[in-house]
Amino acid sequence: MIKTILVTGGTGYIGSHTVLDLIKNGYRVVILDDFSNSSPKVLEQLEKLAGESISLYNVDLKDAKQVEAVFAAEEIDAVINFAGYKAVGESVEQPLKYYENNLIGLINLVKAMQEFAVKKLIFSSSATVYGQPEIMPLKESDPIGNVTNPYGRTKLIIEEILTDICAANEDFGVVTLRYFNPLGADESGEIGEDPNGIPNNLAPYITQVAIGKLEKLSVFGGDYPTEDGTCIRDYVHVADLAAGHTKALDYLFQDNQGYEIFNLGSGVGYSVYQIIDNFEKVVGRPIPYQVVGRRAGDIPVSYAAIDKAKAVLNWSPTKDIGIMCADTWRWQQKHPNGFQD
Ligand code: WQD
Repeated sequence: MIKTILVTGGTGYIGSHTVLDLIKNGYRVVILDDFSNSSPKVLEQLEKLAGESISLYNVDLKDAKQVEAVFAAEEIDAVINFAGYKAVGESVEQPLKYYENNLIGLINLVKAMQEFAVKKLIFSSSATVYGQPEIMPLKESDPIGNVTNPYGRTKLIIEEILTDICAANEDFGVVTLRYFNPLGADESGEIGEDPNGIPNNLAPYITQVAIGKLEKLSVFGGDYPTEDGTCIRDYVHVADLAAGHTKALDYLFQDNQGYEIFNLGSGVGYSVYQIIDNFEKVVGRPIPYQVVGRRAGDIPVSYAAIDKAKAVLNWSPTKDIGIMCADTWRWQQKHPNGFQD
């Protein structure tokens, strides 16, 4: 029997790549999305790439009645919850918007799951829940907390809510995936990251400089205690991240209950300068940049231990930093204005 997966936020950056991977692996996908940070164009592109039509409900997770209606209309076997606000800076300025959207959305979703006896959930968390750690690589069992912004705290709080739900419902199975820094795009160059306005994150900023939409990159801090003075992060290809969700679903469908956490990263750290170098190689010319002061809340180094996902989910990253940069650049070149062209 073909299983149906409800993917909330399925037209977002990681969500859209996961939808493709799920379909390739024989799952049926139903998307729930309100397009608050994405475009209906994504659905068109996904349908072309998948070669089939995909059901989508234009629903806001804060609307409990409409969420229930989706569960009433579809026979859902499992849920992957990507929907959520994610801009760190905006969350500092508008914390209530983040708490309301991310927490109420999750609560409405899980209530509907309980009402319709759907017992498998994958939740998108973030390496940000590790706070300001000093020992690398980061393991799932390391302490969490000490997060510097409301966005990160919504992830932390939801992880705790899900732990409580699993403790109270023995037949519930929840996998929390802690993403490190997603990079890259589908190799077709037809879907990718399409941030609103000026990007906050490193890769979209670099590619917009490379294509001439922005003048130069600001490197946030050149005096960190790292080899070249810039921050180190663990970049992982979005297609590898997507495959991690399919593996996590397979794991849940093997009748694994309870609450499990997995890091999804490449296990390797690259500095900001190394990322610039790798982009310069694929773009074929220098990326203009200047070093400015540190950005509030940035930690010097972050990279993952990925042994648990390898051992339990049989997942491994397959695409190196060169491929990540080449795929990001292909998407940027084919769609200089994101889903507007
Ligand atoms: C990477 C490195 C910056 C922009 C955050 C969240 C995480 C996830 C992804 C989202 C850092 C440096 C960046 C720039 C720079 N959230 N940088 N100039 O901060 O590791 O992670 O975004 O959905 O939860 O915490 O990612 O891409 O912003 O930064 O020098 O213009 O690039 O200082 O070292 P980060 P990032």
